[in-house]
Amino acid sequence: MVEPVKVGFALTGSFCTFDKVILELKELCREYDVTVIMSKSASSTDTRFGTAKGFMEKAEDLSQRKVITEISTAEPIGPKKLFDALIIAPCTGNTLAKLAHGITDTPVTMAAKAHLRNERPLIIAPSTNDGLGANAKNLGLLLNTKNIYFVPFGQDDPINKHNSLVADFTKIIPTLQEALKGRQIQPILV
Ligand SMILES: Cc1cc2nc3c(=O)[nH]c(=O)nc-3n(C[C@H](O)[C@H](O)[C@H](O)COP(=O)(O)O)c2cc1C
Repeated sequence: MVEPVKVGFALTGSFCTFDKVILELKELCREYDVTVIMSKSASSTDTRFGTAKGFMEKAEDLSQRKVITEISTAEPIGPKKLFDALIIAPCTGNTLAKLAHGITDTPVTMAAKAHLRNERPLIIAPSTNDGLGANAKNLGLLLNTKNIYFVPFGQDDPINKHNSLVADFTKIIPTLQEALKGRQIQPILV
């Protein structure tokens, strides 16, 4: 029997996108062996979009695994080579900036650092109001970084939110499939 591909799926605090992302997580769990990771803000903040506990229960129900919510439990992802690929969806501006600068102070940035050490694909689905502002330079850095792939993204509201970028979350699985072959899905801009 062929072993299912092992995928890490990390959620960071772009709460308004959680419902859309959970739909994709559900699809992913049908075909892949998925472990969910949540940043501290994602695992502890209740917002008008839902409670942290509710999203965590949903993630555990879909993946049938305990969610990783600590740096200490994310660290073994490196030495134990736990994932074939790691997805960060949604990826906040905050996490994007940390990734671009080698800062490792959340479960998600720890997971990314540990996973990248194994030279395996990291897939980022950005969702940030400053993607074309303060975070544009970080996006540029990561677009040009080995083993990092992007879920196609675009401006979600160019009239009212000039700098805002959001990934097309329905492209998470096709992006993963391409990244596992060492290729960036195209077009990258939607
Ligand atoms: C209701 C709410 C919605 C937010 N939406 C976003 C968002 O869409 N994108 C983003 O980059 N940050 C957003 N933030 C801010 C992040 O949650 C904040 O920067 C946090 O520190 C991110 O931490 P993390 O990247 O470790 O999850 C939002 C915050 C709140 C309270």
